[in-house]
Amino acid sequence: MVDPRDADASRFAGEALSEGRPTGWFEPLYAAASGGEAVVPWDLEAPHGLLPEWGRDVDGSGRSALVVGCGYGRDAEFVASLGFRTTAFDISETAIRDARARHAGSGVEYVTADLLDPPAEWVGGFDFVLESITVQSMPLSLRAEATERVAAMVAPGGELLVISGVRAEGTDVDGPPWPLTRSEIEAFATGGLRVERIEQAPLPANPDMTSWRALFTR
Ligand SMILES: C[S@@+](CC[C@H](N)C(=O)[O-])C[C@H]1O[C@@H](n2cnc3c(N)ncnc32)[C@H](O)[C@@H]1O
Repeated sequence: MVDPRDADASRFAGEALSEGRPTGWFEPLYAAASGGEAVVPWDLEAPHGLLPEWGRDVDGSGRSALVVGCGYGRDAEFVASLGFRTTAFDISETAIRDARARHAGSGVEYVTADLLDPPAEWVGGFDFVLESITVQSMPLSLRAEATERVAAMVAPGGELLVISGVRAEGTDVDGPPWPLTRSEIEAFATGGLRVERIEQAPLPANPDMTSWRALFTR
């Protein structure tokens, strides 16, 4: 049975996917939610549960950060709170408009952009890149391209943190989402990035569930 919080996302995704528009469901979902007619299932109060522990010893002062598929900006605001000069982007212009409204006065620069066609100046442009459950929101047919695009944003000497749901190697899934296998996590080590650490960490709010938390450096 579909979790009631996921029902609207499943409906919009089903329509867009059947029309061959794999990322075409985010804007209609956010627009409907903006009008009070749908629920965005990842609209939560706090940053992702695996971010605060990672951020405990991180000082972003003087460093730039990019948050991929930022939605309403909960993770971007957390990253900015560590001192990073933060840019956050999403394919949905409604999400970006609402993120700006929710975080009025924020230092985060919220931008509408497509990971699969990003501004050229972002390539190699950020000391820290956060990819949290965005690549898994795109079908497997886009995985390789999305992974390479994320990795390409990391500047020399920079870091990439990937947080994602876990899928067993060799299994298929009827998404969204399409969680990542270990080899799909390892694939972020491309274009000069290398694996620093890959772990399956329990979620603080639900320790029976684990997520990937993987750190890469260039
Ligand atoms: C599952 S949601 C996660 C949002 C946010 N990272 C969070 O944890 O709350 C995936 C987000 O990625 C965005 N997204 C999906 N495909 C994208 C793309 N190609 N470029 C930019 N953003 C994208 C969606 O609009 C959505 O906000």
